[in-house]
Amino acid sequence: MKNPLCWVILIGVAFLLIQQGLPVHSQGDSQSDNKVMDNITVRQGDTVSLSCGQGDLVTHSAWLNRSSIMYAGEDKWSVDSRVSLVTLNQDEFTIKIENVDMTDEGQYVCAVQTRSKATTTSVHVIVQVPPKITSLSKDLVVNEGSNVSLICAASGKPDPSVSWKIISPSAQSLPSEDEYLEIQSVSRQRAGTYECTAINDVATDIQTVELTVNYAPSVSEGKDVGVTLGQQGVLQCEADAVPSADFEWYRDDRRIFNSFDGIEIEDSGALSKLTFFNVSEGDYGNYTCVAMNKLGSANTSIVLFVVIEPTSSTLLQETTSTVLEQTGSESHTESEGPDAVQDGNSAARAALTSTCLLVLVALQLLLKF
Ligand SMILES: *[C@@H]1O[C@H](CO)[C@@H](O)[C@H](O)[C@H]1NC(C)=O
Ligand SMILES: *[C@@H]1O[C@H](CO)[C@@H](O)[C@H](O)[C@H]1NC(C)=O
Ligand SMILES: *[C@@H]1O[C@H](CO)[C@@H](O)[C@H](O)[C@H]1NC(C)=O
Ligand SMILES: *[C@@H]1O[C@H](CO)[C@@H](O)[C@H](O)[C@H]1NC(C)=O
Ligand SMILES: *[C@@H]1O[C@H](CO)[C@@H](O)[C@H](O)[C@H]1NC(C)=O
Ligand SMILES: *[C@@H]1O[C@H](CO)[C@@H](O)[C@H](O)[C@H]1NC(C)=O
Repeated sequence: MKNPLCWVILIGVAFLLIQQGLPVHSQGDSQSDNKVMDNITVRQGDTVSLSCGQGDLVTHSAWLNRSSIMYAGEDKWSVDSRVSLVTLNQDEFTIKIENVDMTDEGQYVCAVQTRSKATTTSVHVIVQVPPKITSLSKDLVVNEGSNVSLICAASGKPDPSVSWKIISPSAQSLPSEDEYLEIQSVSRQRAGTYECTAINDVATDIQTVELTVNYAPSVSEGKDVGVTLGQQGVLQCEADAVPSADFEWYRDDRRIFNSFDGIEIEDSGALSKLTFFNVSEGDYGNYTCVAMNKLGSANTSIVLFVVIEPTSSTLLQETTSTVLEQTGSESHTESEGPDAVQDGNSAARAALTSTCLLVLVALQLLLKF
């Protein structure tokens, strides 16, 4: 407005209109106007700004929390230190709430008054809270066959959804889409690390629980051990158990202790080793390994037997007997298989074997004399 006269006239007209109680802007017949703004979503702990428009003709404006005035113009009525004024001018009236909490959720109203009408603008503040697991089962140790019940309760806004899965020994999700995880008659395969996940639009909270399943030992069948006199002999016993088994070794009914001369018992986890550093005649025999834990015991027997040290003559004897066994078994299978076809190859092999046999027998006879 370059022309000052024009400006004066305009103010004069406006003044007259207001004096006469006429509407400044003809906005329909209503003297008050209610508007609803879009919802504002804010995370717990964050700051939210509430803003509404003003105008040249505003005489009073206020921000209300439900029915209580927080700000009337630039006068703060709220006693809450988190609430403060950001801007108040002809264009806007903005306040902010810092460190928002759940209780701040609700309706906020900006009331604007001109001489002729009141306008309210309301806005709904929604406070979101990240999920937090509030109650979780402690690490659990149970016996195989027990019923197991794990709980994972979580809070948050919106309500978080809770689910369970196994992450070790191998990852596997579980049917439970729920805060409770029930396992009927738990097996040893269900032992492991369980993970509870609570998730909502805001974030995720994850916690784990360790499930240990105890069971009685089972021992692998012992392998008999052949050792030459004066050599070292080792008997091994392996047990699968939770908690780990304790081992005892017996010779017939007699318990063997570590301190015995020339004998060492060494346990490491699932394995127990009985070592004879120098096997003597009296060591040969039947040994029993007993594995036990608090849930039970199991045993296996292992025979320590003699192996004659290979000399030139025993070596020959062994070779002869092996060859005899081989030819024996070969003719055995051939005679048993009715569909077996006697081809030239196998006939030649049989001939060769019998020649070898003859040579060996002759050689042995020669050596004996
Ligand atoms: C705003 O939030 C309220 C309460 O949660 C809900 O009833 C309303 O539908 C929401 N309005 C919009 C526009 O999202
Ligand atoms: C809004 O009102 C509620 C209920 O009276 C109160 O708990 C909350 O602290 C208020 N929030 C602010 C920012 O004034
Ligand atoms: C486990 O639960 C089943 C079914 O609820 C019940 O029949 C059984 O007796 C329970 N077992 C134990 C050891 O509590
Ligand atoms: C094993 O014991 C025998 C008889 O006690 C002894 O003669 C021999 O020297 C021992 N051998 C070793 C390697 O200790
Ligand atoms: C070894 O002893 C166990 C029990 O003492 C017995 O059951 C097993 O038959 C014995 N083994 C041999 C080969 O004698
Ligand atoms: C070994 O196990 C059998 C049953 O499997 C049991 O009868 C025996 O008493 C056990 N022996 C020892 C020494 O524990």
